[in-house]
Amino acid sequence: MLNFELYNPTNLVFGKGQIEKLQTLVPKDAKILLAYGGGSIFKNGIYDQVKTALKGFEIVEFGGIEPNPHFETLMKAVEIIKEQKIDFILAVGGGSVIDGVKFISAAVHYEGNPMEILQKRILITDLSKVIPFGTVLTLPATGSEMNSGAVVTIEATHEKLAFGGSALFPKFSICDPTVIASLPKRQLQNGVVDAFTHVMEQYLTYPHEGYLQDRLAESILQTLLEIGPKVVENPTDYALASNFMWSCTMALNGLIQKGVPTDWATHMIGHELTALYGIDHARTLAVIAPSLYKVMFETKKGKLAQYGKRVFNLTGNDDEIAKEAINKTVEFFHTMGMETKLSDYTKDFSKTADFIVNRFDERGWKGLGEKQNITLEKVKSIVEMSY
Ligand code: NZQ
Ligand code: ZN
Repeated sequence: MLNFELYNPTNLVFGKGQIEKLQTLVPKDAKILLAYGGGSIFKNGIYDQVKTALKGFEIVEFGGIEPNPHFETLMKAVEIIKEQKIDFILAVGGGSVIDGVKFISAAVHYEGNPMEILQKRILITDLSKVIPFGTVLTLPATGSEMNSGAVVTIEATHEKLAFGGSALFPKFSICDPTVIASLPKRQLQNGVVDAFTHVMEQYLTYPHEGYLQDRLAESILQTLLEIGPKVVENPTDYALASNFMWSCTMALNGLIQKGVPTDWATHMIGHELTALYGIDHARTLAVIAPSLYKVMFETKKGKLAQYGKRVFNLTGNDDEIAKEAINKTVEFFHTMGMETKLSDYTKDFSKTADFIVNRFDERGWKGLGEKQNITLEKVKSIVEMSY
């Protein structure tokens, strides 16, 4: 097993009715920026619950954080925080609002142009230089509620860039599974597939000695396979909703990646498809992952065979199992309502592979994946195979 440090200071407050606890979770006397997205919280009653729980606090509201949050939008919140001397941020939303708040938190005291946080991928580690924040999660998917990473889009340059650091864990996150009742099917499908792929990025590498991590990863995959299609049809079923929400958090709160190699190339390529075409994050993963597993078959076949045997109960020889495991994954994505070809989302794809390869080249990304052997040539093949 590889050496590791496990640090996760987020106080995760899980279950029905937990939004009430905001009253004690938010620091006394804090002046709060309540950040939210396009307004779903007004329709499903979450805004009212939050406001009731925060009676007595001074609150400034900032709405309009879009899916795949924009640097340009977030900078407006940074100005408000400076002007109004706000000392705590509450993110009420999905991954986009939470990621947006992580950027706002880091940008307020950043010395220099905050765009550098994204373009130079500045690591944010100094707790004295960030605005503390908490979250009320409304969409299980990203794990952003219990990790210190985020992804922000620069609208002007169409770049979608990841950043983070140990100072960007939420102080607390309230995860009430009943909030998923109002999610459109598309977002429920996205959530299941995003979480599933998060596990795959940290699991589907090569055989190693992280036996416990493998078993943990497989258990999350099996849970998502079992409940995913059902939760889309029955989001008010509490057993399904709570297992869905907890699986999404566990998929990307750092635990299963400790001491093991990780890939993340599906995400890196997928972010480009969102930046170029506005395709939902999870849907880009369903487009890229199957091609990536095929192009990187030799590197990944040991683990693909393990995945096939343990997660899908496949039998036969390892090569056959490994291939069939990819088919089963695609089948699952289809069951979850995902298209798995780029041409299902855009007709204007013929230059996509070259565009992405050029971008990676400019950024100096020569080799991605757990063995850094996903060369630019391989990226090109992966994207072209996904057309
Ligand atoms: O904006 P509002 O009106 O709230 O509507 C949102 C949005 O339109 C809606 N929604 C959220 N909760 C709802 C709801 N509608 C009804 N009822 C509710 N309870 O859902 C839409 C999508 O929301 P969004 O936050 O964009 O979705 P998601 O949580 O999937 O987040 C995606 C973003 O997270 C990033 C992605 O790249 C993308 O930008 N990711 C963040 C990660 C992280 N921080 O660790 C990891 C992920 O891999 C991912 O990259
Ligand atoms: Zn993701």
